[in-house]
Amino acid sequence: MSTNTLTITQPDDWHLHLRDGAALASVLPHSAAQFARAVVMPNLKTPITTTEQAIGYRQRILATLPGHLMFEPIMTLYLTETTAPKEIDAASKSGVVRAVKLYPAGATTHSESGVTDLGRCARVFEKMQQLEMPLLVHGEVTHAEVDVFDRERVFIDDVLIPLRRNFPALKIVFEHITTRDAVDYVQAADGAIGATVTAHHLLFNRNSLFIDGGGRPGMRPHHYCLPVLKRETHRCALLAAVASGNSRFFLGTDSAPHAKGDKEAACGCAGCFTAASALELYLEAFEEANALDRFEAFASFNGPDFYGLPRNTRRITLQRANWILPAEFPYADKTIVPLRAGETLRWKLQG
Ligand code: NCD
Ligand code: ZN
Repeated sequence: MSTNTLTITQPDDWHLHLRDGAALASVLPHSAAQFARAVVMPNLKTPITTTEQAIGYRQRILATLPGHLMFEPIMTLYLTETTAPKEIDAASKSGVVRAVKLYPAGATTHSESGVTDLGRCARVFEKMQQLEMPLLVHGEVTHAEVDVFDRERVFIDDVLIPLRRNFPALKIVFEHITTRDAVDYVQAADGAIGATVTAHHLLFNRNSLFIDGGGRPGMRPHHYCLPVLKRETHRCALLAAVASGNSRFFLGTDSAPHAKGDKEAACGCAGCFTAASALELYLEAFEEANALDRFEAFASFNGPDFYGLPRNTRRITLQRANWILPAEFPYADKTIVPLRAGETLRWKLQG
């Protein structure tokens, strides 16, 4: 008999893009309706590179939060080649910044200030290791000669393995993993390593970039994100990983809003907006993997355990119910198209 309701500890989102200003005001209520906490990515137009900036950004998030919602933003710093070890001290003391994000320069949205030569960050990594401050990695190389679909695999060999050899006690989260290679690496690696997995990488393979739900050909900009969707064998490896119950894997939506016109363009932005139905999307994937009983640990336990934070105590209920996800949501003075816009979802968060 299939389960019709699922009551679990309230989940957190360990990888979220909230933007700023009017865009922040548009997307924040969606995440706060689903999650108790979220790790907020620092890749604003002017990146959040200092603790002082992170504290200011956190205050803007909290000031924007509608009064009836509870939500704790967990802040991150954007690593640059000029980040100083004393900035890590300040971050650690703040009690507000809990991780540092590595964007290889040029890898994704607003990554221009990211890192080209990791050697320049050695003193920062030593300090992070000492203070047990996790490094969140966007795990893709950006060399023009590497095929876009191979960027994650090459990153493991060329960047991640040497980095972890040099800093074996550095806590690392391999963000939004997309390949069997990443799953295998995370499962076998020694030391403190975790990985976030998005709903879209669990639900879709790269065919969905070029074929619609009915099998008709066409470019689908709302399925374009970074790291880009991979082939079906990789999607199956991700599903198997989360269904295995391995505590190294946890929920991170990578919900990344861009206005409709910026996606439906000659050179469209990367990012899937999933915040409005994140838990419902994940449940479809876990149901496909026959692993609904593994969802609570993935969504609500493994993340806080990795970060050394308390688990949430509030409980939420998801119910099996068909409903149609709106075609668009307001986004500042524009609109945003969510992933699965206008389609029927099979689960609904109650309350
Ligand atoms: C993210 C964004 O738009 O900020 N885009 C994406 O496709 N995931 C950046 C990122 O996390 O790579
Ligand atoms: Zn992201």
